[in-house]
Amino acid sequence: MDRVSEDALTAEVVARLEATPDPRLRDVMQSFIRHLHAFAREVRLTDEEWLAGIRFLTATGHMCDDVRQEFILLSDTLGLSSLVDVINHSDDAGIATEPTILGPFYVAESPWREFGESMVEYDDGGEAAILRGVVRDETGSPIAGAVVDLWQNAATGFYAVQQPGVQPTTNLRGRYRTDDEGRYEARTVRPVPYPIPNDGPVGQLLRDTGRHEWRAAHIHVKASADGYVPLTSHVFDRRSDYLDSDTVFGVKDSLIADFVPGSDGVLVCEHDIVLARA
Ligand code: BEZ
Ligand code: FE
Repeated sequence: MDRVSEDALTAEVVARLEATPDPRLRDVMQSFIRHLHAFAREVRLTDEEWLAGIRFLTATGHMCDDVRQEFILLSDTLGLSSLVDVINHSDDAGIATEPTILGPFYVAESPWREFGESMVEYDDGGEAAILRGVVRDETGSPIAGAVVDLWQNAATGFYAVQQPGVQPTTNLRGRYRTDDEGRYEARTVRPVPYPIPNDGPVGQLLRDTGRHEWRAAHIHVKASADGYVPLTSHVFDRRSDYLDSDTVFGVKDSLIADFVPGSDGVLVCEHDIVLARA
């Protein structure tokens, strides 16, 4: 097929989508076809490579169930999840706290915890730490009664959901309500870098492309309050490895914070959160 007939084939597929009743679906599918065909033309995709791609996507699908979502992991490692997040959740004014991806280890309905209460329910030797800060609005005023939902990994690198029967299910996660001055405070352990699940086709693709599978150390944060846009974000440890090469492209400079020794030797990380008005 010469270049003219290659282009004609693309145009025919696009034209056939013209009758799609839903205009958004039509636009998305026509654009998808144009880019997909352009990709195949650009790399001069061979029969074997096309089949390898089909086999890869099939294996990815076989690795999906209620607890494992290999397609989302693929999206994460291709930077697509972070791109969609930036497109949809960044505050154009740049005042609100930057969002970043949710990740697969979020569990809803974490236990409510008191101001300053520990989320540690299982001691595996992590470094004691306190995460605290103030939730504010865009003018700097504190937001009382905001919900700060936290979850993170243990010193072994695992989240509680990855180790049923080892860690208590609510270990290292909890929901905190800000006080009258907008403050929240959680007792925890320092998070550590960890590899994303790497025993499936996505892990193989990372190895085949010379990439590592590590995430920089972080604590996940969801923050919400009536009348404000809910935030899904992280706090990253400035001393962590992989800040420059987080395998899912989740690091934003504004989310990097210091864990510094407090008076009693316990590490303290100060992280204020700014919510945008809904
Ligand atoms: C996480 O931060 O929990 C995560 C995000 C993307 C892929 C794997 C893990
Ligand atoms: Fe994580």
